[in-house]
Amino acid sequence: MVTHRIALIPGDGIGQEVTPAASRVLEAVGARHGISFSYDEFDWSCARYAEQDAMMPADGLDRIRHHDAVLLGAVGDPSVPDHVSLWGLLIPIRRSFRQYVNLRPVKVFDGVESPVRGAGAMDLVVVRENVEGEYSEVGGRFGRGFAEEMAVQESVFTRAGVERIADYAFRLAGRRRGHVTSATKSNGIVHTMPFWDEVVAEKALSFPDVTLHSEHIDALCAKVVLDPARFDVIVGSNLFGDILSDLTAAVAGSIGIAPSANINPERDFPSMFEPVHGSAPDIAGKGVANPLGAIWTAALMLDHLGHPDAAAEVERAIADVLATTPIRTPDLGGTASTGEFTSAVLDSLR
Ligand code: NAI
Ligand code: MG
Repeated sequence: MVTHRIALIPGDGIGQEVTPAASRVLEAVGARHGISFSYDEFDWSCARYAEQDAMMPADGLDRIRHHDAVLLGAVGDPSVPDHVSLWGLLIPIRRSFRQYVNLRPVKVFDGVESPVRGAGAMDLVVVRENVEGEYSEVGGRFGRGFAEEMAVQESVFTRAGVERIADYAFRLAGRRRGHVTSATKSNGIVHTMPFWDEVVAEKALSFPDVTLHSEHIDALCAKVVLDPARFDVIVGSNLFGDILSDLTAAVAGSIGIAPSANINPERDFPSMFEPVHGSAPDIAGKGVANPLGAIWTAALMLDHLGHPDAAAEVERAIADVLATTPIRTPDLGGTASTGEFTSAVLDSLR
């Protein structure tokens, strides 16, 4: 029996509803594979912010630094500005733990209708650069309140940063269908994006079996809608990857099904696993959130922790429920509750 120590951060809104679903599935699949999980739960959230004026304690990162992984639901609440909740919790974890890869696989499951015609064969992974790029702290606001008020924000692209994310994307494509699409905008953004293109193209030379196409982000978004099945691995900067992964999730049927992994490939620090969706205040507390994204996220965590067979079993169970039963949550056109869908996945695992 191997035991993994997991830092569990349910967060806000439906984060509180989907993380229990994920841990139930982990427990069930773990029992079959000799894996157990020991959770330390943290209440870091906007709710905590409201009481203590901080999303997490000052020594928060040290408290989770030695866990095997972090499993997070979602953070965000209408009472707290989104940049406060994001920069108070998620971004410090991603950056301090050098989780520079944000992996976001999507596919259209049998039995799920995509809003996009002909999307059935879509099966792709967005590899998003996760610690630099457009989400930088360089810049400022000037002349607040005056007519000449202005805001400046600099993007930061480093050679090391672009090389390592490109390297990850090419390696991943080598284990999949061998295609990398690089999201760019070098026609409009004339310094950072030509640099991104150059470094990605140099990296491609080390992977002769993988093909590389660069696409401008605007055209790429159109192609993701018009012909999503053509893509295998899409690599993008922090902003482009963020936008693309909500788009690809929507094409797959619902943002509620999309998983993500924030990975520190060197394993110097724990990696963090969280569904792509946010806290969904509009449906929070109703018990109808789709737990699929969180459950698939748990499978990504299993894979990262060295249990690819257990991970594949979870993915098979999800696919099985969707393909063979009408059980699905309202975002996928069904009437099942979070708990009912989760129970169906557990039944399929047994
Ligand atoms: P959101 O993902 O929370 O919701 C967008 C829409 O999708 C809503 O209509 C919601 O009901 C629906 N939805 C999302 N997840 C679902 C699920 N599992 N099942 C069924 N329907 C689902 O994004 P939104 O509304 O932009 O943000 C809400 C809050 O979440 C904000 O405070 C935002 O900052 C935060 N947020 C947090 C993220 C995180 O913790 N990683 C990521 C994105 C947003
Ligand atoms: Mg996003």
